[in-house]
Amino acid sequence: MEGMGLRNVSSHCSISEMDDYDLSRLLGKPRLNIERQRSFDERSLSELSIGLTRCGLDNFESTYSPGGRSGFDTPVSSTRNSFEPHPMVADAWEALRRSLVYFRGQPVGTIAAVDHASEEVLNYDQVFVRDFVPSALAFLMNGEPDIVKNFLLKTLCLQSWEKRVDRFKLGEGAMPASFKVRHDPIRKADTLVADFGESAIGRVAPVDSGFWWIILLRAYTKSTGDLSLAETPDCQKGMRLILSLCLSEGFDTFPTLLCADGCCMIDRRMGIYGYPIEIQALFFMVLRCSLAMLKPDAEGKEFIERIVKRLNALSYHMRSYFWLDFQQLNDIYRYKTEEYSHTAVNKFNVIPDSIPDWVFEFMPTRGGYFIGNVSPARMDFRWFALGNCIAILSSLATPEQSMAIMDLIESRWEELVGEMPLKIAYPAIESHEWRIVTGCDPKNTRWSYHNGGSWPVLLWLLTAACIKTGRPQIARRAIELAESRLLKDSWPEYYDGKNGRYIGKQARKYQTWSIAGYLVAKMLLEDPSHLGMISLEEDKQMKHVLKRSSSWTF
Ligand code: GLC
Repeated sequence: MEGMGLRNVSSHCSISEMDDYDLSRLLGKPRLNIERQRSFDERSLSELSIGLTRCGLDNFESTYSPGGRSGFDTPVSSTRNSFEPHPMVADAWEALRRSLVYFRGQPVGTIAAVDHASEEVLNYDQVFVRDFVPSALAFLMNGEPDIVKNFLLKTLCLQSWEKRVDRFKLGEGAMPASFKVRHDPIRKADTLVADFGESAIGRVAPVDSGFWWIILLRAYTKSTGDLSLAETPDCQKGMRLILSLCLSEGFDTFPTLLCADGCCMIDRRMGIYGYPIEIQALFFMVLRCSLAMLKPDAEGKEFIERIVKRLNALSYHMRSYFWLDFQQLNDIYRYKTEEYSHTAVNKFNVIPDSIPDWVFEFMPTRGGYFIGNVSPARMDFRWFALGNCIAILSSLATPEQSMAIMDLIESRWEELVGEMPLKIAYPAIESHEWRIVTGCDPKNTRWSYHNGGSWPVLLWLLTAACIKTGRPQIARRAIELAESRLLKDSWPEYYDGKNGRYIGKQARKYQTWSIAGYLVAKMLLEDPSHLGMISLEEDKQMKHVLKRSSSWTF
């Protein structure tokens, strides 16, 4: 492909530079700005990173902070000096280390929950891929990358297993939801047992596992500066297999990814089938991370081309159709229906009567968010925290949209944060709707678990989003709330109730990702340069493309 010059230098530049891929160049279109204007700081940091240790330094580059560091109350150095570790931090580290899982003497992950009091173990004694992410980030931020590398390599081996549900063979690239290490004390042998959805309640494959794997691979690379892992043929192949599952062509008319209910953190039926925001935001982030890590060799090149095209279409679709603010809501409220042909404004034929009452009250004059789902004649107006935070971190949200999401969180604090950060979804589904949507799920009753429950793990995502948007005071407020209860309540998995006041009905105690999520939030606030591990800068070219195509379409 022409114009691949940018990628040819990839082995000499840092991942942060590769993040700044140039969409129009890759698409073979003329660029407006040949030399992207970079500030001296930016340039010198990335130059410094070439051939030198990249650890920590180029993390700064991806920190989106409007107006430079002025968004922060105090300069990083003095924050650091004055930082008094909260007494909970030491407890959290101890608890996190107790959750370590070993395979043949090497730490390979953390168990989902170390709750000895709970009678039902179910699968909480396993290493969940998604649950391990905050643990991994905590270890990376603490300068302990080995466990993360071991985890990435072990899960990569699992990917190559043949996976079946009854007589049906799953796609090659699928990654497990979780795995377990079986110790045989007699034969003194360790073996792995993995679950790709074939044992999971509901038998749903975790679409997010492979996505988190790629995001973690980038975080590891970014944090250690060790490009060699991502560049191994095995990791390159692992990425390509995951990508081929979600880039394959079918009957789709949208660039979003069609999913079954319960295919992500919300792993039970909750009416998120279709195009759930959590998966779309992760998908977008994964495409961008992969673009930075894929080698433009014989096999990688084709993927790079497909990724660029998909990113372009996906960002346009998400920013236009999933975005809801006061203006947009008012437009939908006044939609005409039964429009046919290319001139239709109401493209998906959404019937205004289907807009739920609560959203009119909920929507502030200032603020907005990506709604839960968009498909023909169906908009799920619910707020989902994970998808919106990932949208900010991946820069799927434009800077204006990111600010609007933070405005919404601030103005709807009672509803979205309440007494324990952070509501997984808002509002809860009740009565008849709950019966129909969840199939009468007793675990997902209103304001509990996935149905409007409050999940401490989401604190790290909120904190990262706050730092990226230059609003650390919001994170501080949320962390204080968590600190008033989490340890005392033994690190529950989730809280129940409209305000998140009650420990969840069936919540595990010593839930590892509640512990790790808190630690990551604390470390991010203490040293915002860690943000680069899980954040990507806005791509200016993509913004340009969006503007242009909107003016063409309307
Ligand atoms: C529950 C959660 C899921 C999590 C798992 C292990 O099933 O819904 O997101 O990965 O517990 O903690």
